[in-house]
Amino acid sequence: MTSVAWTNIGELATADASAGEGPLGVVRDAAVVAVDGVIEWIGPSSACPPADEAHDMDGRAVLPGFVDAHMHPVFAGDRAAEFDARMSGTAYSAGGIRTTVAATRAASDAELAANAARLVAEAARQGTTTVEAKSGYGLTVHDEARSLVAGKSVTEETTFLGAHVVPAEYADRPDDYVDLVCGEMLDACAPHAKWADVFVERGAFDVDQARRILEAAQAKGLGLRVHANQLTQGAGVRLAVELGAASVDHCTHLGDDDIDALAGSRTVATLVPGAEFSTRSTYAPARRLWDAGVTVAIASDCNPGSSFTTSMPLMVALAVREMGLTPAEAVWAATAGGAASLRRTDIGVLVPGRRADLIALDAPSFVHLAYRPGVPLVTDVWRSAQRLPSAV
Ligand code: NIG
Ligand code: FE
Repeated sequence: MTSVAWTNIGELATADASAGEGPLGVVRDAAVVAVDGVIEWIGPSSACPPADEAHDMDGRAVLPGFVDAHMHPVFAGDRAAEFDARMSGTAYSAGGIRTTVAATRAASDAELAANAARLVAEAARQGTTTVEAKSGYGLTVHDEARSLVAGKSVTEETTFLGAHVVPAEYADRPDDYVDLVCGEMLDACAPHAKWADVFVERGAFDVDQARRILEAAQAKGLGLRVHANQLTQGAGVRLAVELGAASVDHCTHLGDDDIDALAGSRTVATLVPGAEFSTRSTYAPARRLWDAGVTVAIASDCNPGSSFTTSMPLMVALAVREMGLTPAEAVWAATAGGAASLRRTDIGVLVPGRRADLIALDAPSFVHLAYRPGVPLVTDVWRSAQRLPSAV
């Protein structure tokens, strides 16, 4: 048994409203003790019990490690030229995905795993202690399966996204591709995936195709996540709610009926402000979703096309400055919200019984994540009470 204590925490954001003040459950002058990687005690620093290892936080802010519930870290190449053209006025479209598919198919298994590991390490240095990893740049039975194996090398939260876009070789027979995804591809991928996802969008998959794929995946025991309403206000959000998806992601273009459907459901709205930032789009209506009682998460959507960033502190800053959330709400969405999106009850919140995944800031308050955008404030990162390298 090994115990670790963090003392003199100026501001502890537990992300459990019932554990302290406000939506982030803030406790001041606090200490945390973990035993064998799991939180056992939280209380006033002055009453902290002795531990084998102690860290004096010197009045700094401590919060849960970020839970990034939407990433696409398995790919090869980049699309800087596409980004450059976009910044000169070319619109983002789903078709750009095919550029990355060609590079991914040409990469070895080792390259895909190394690329994913590099991005996950980059995220960890900025405070992310749990990630989700999607396939979706292979789009053959073999390339989707090996993408998931690469994803599994960095996280247990792997998502089969064979229905990311119809690959070029199926362009004139998209329903044959849907048959492949629902049949042989799903059979090969399901053993390596916890979740299935479909990009429901003009230029990707329509609602009927998405329903077939998601129902087939559900029948195989996979949980559901859906990319919906990113570029247009389609029926993807309502489909996700109807099928009981754990999460519906993007939610940029929503009508009142979409918000009502989400509010009456257990489906989390996982918002990805990095995609909106990098495609010069309007932002998802986070304020309206939160006020309607929808569970909101924020995630990086790290991918080479629409959001090539791993920075959850940037997502917090964007959610506050561009989407109308308060700093406390945005940090909740990046921690407890991410855990809810992945239906995880062991992470995302700092209370006894949860994993000791916590980060310290070079700041007295979590508010500084939004107040000081772009500044590397995460000085220390622990997962299961084990220190990881940080960016500072
Ligand atoms: O979440 N929307 C679909 N997938 C990614 C973009 C993929 C790409 O452009 O490569 C997204 O934004
Ligand atoms: Fe995505």
